[in-house]
Amino acid sequence: MLDEAKTSANDSAMNATKTHSAPRIITLASSKGGVGKSTCSAALAGALASREGAVTLIDLDVNGTLIRWYNKHGGKLPNITVLQATPDTFHQLLTNATSSNSAYIIIDVAGAYEATMIKAIAESNLVITPAKLSEPDLREAAKVFSEVEALNKRFRATIQYRLLVNEAETLNPMYQRHALAEVDASALTRFTHLMNKRAAYREIFITGLPPHFADKGRGPIAKAVAELDDILTEIVQILSEPTKAKAA
Ligand SMILES: Nc1ncnc2c1ncn2[C@@H]1O[C@H](COP(=O)(O)OP(=O)(O)OP(=O)(O)O)[C@@H](O)[C@H]1O
Ligand SMILES: [Mg+2]
Repeated sequence: MLDEAKTSANDSAMNATKTHSAPRIITLASSKGGVGKSTCSAALAGALASREGAVTLIDLDVNGTLIRWYNKHGGKLPNITVLQATPDTFHQLLTNATSSNSAYIIIDVAGAYEATMIKAIAESNLVITPAKLSEPDLREAAKVFSEVEALNKRFRATIQYRLLVNEAETLNPMYQRHALAEVDASALTRFTHLMNKRAAYREIFITGLPPHFADKGRGPIAKAVAELDDILTEIVQILSEPTKAKAA
């Protein structure tokens, strides 16, 4: 299974070195469960859909968080399409999505260290790993980071990587400042903006509405929209940067 994934990763990583106009492929990856991959996928899809146009989400997690969300609430999610993929159908679905009118494809994977995650990473322009400022989350983020580095080095690919600090505390307590300083001193490259712990994110899978589609007249929603816009601006910037393939 891993060999198969590596072969596929080989082809895919080499594809990643080719310049292609669109769409941009973003994978939310962490080998740890419950870090916020599905929440960030849906929140960012909402932001992209309202700012940049059509976005396709590929749910590559057997638990199907995003496909259940879409089946229930898709009618109120303009510009968002969710496709459910299995490891076997993933490449075909991705090919189909690539020829759709979506400028962005977001892939949500299961929270486990498995070949499917590597497959998705290998197809990506950008890998985002959400992580709380806790040792277990950051440890798993470092594993994903190494995987991206290995693919880039081995296949001269240019997959970008960013840690997204999730469930941060808005009051920015001392432990948080300290932990952020430790992350910044490490090899983990992070988004400058943090994703705070907010009810607006929890609400996505309850009301069905990502912050950009919810009532922005509500203060908590407006704050989530503002921070997502900041993160999205960073994403667009990262994806527009010229990248250099690393030496093999
Ligand atoms: N920024 C946030 N603020 C508040 N709650 C959050 C935030 N991010 C995630 N959560 C909550 O944390 C829980 C786990 O999030 P989520 O399901 O997105 O994680 P996941 O990484 O996709 O998990 P899995 O690996 O099981 O698929 C959910 O209840 C979600 O509402
Ligand atoms: Mg999930």
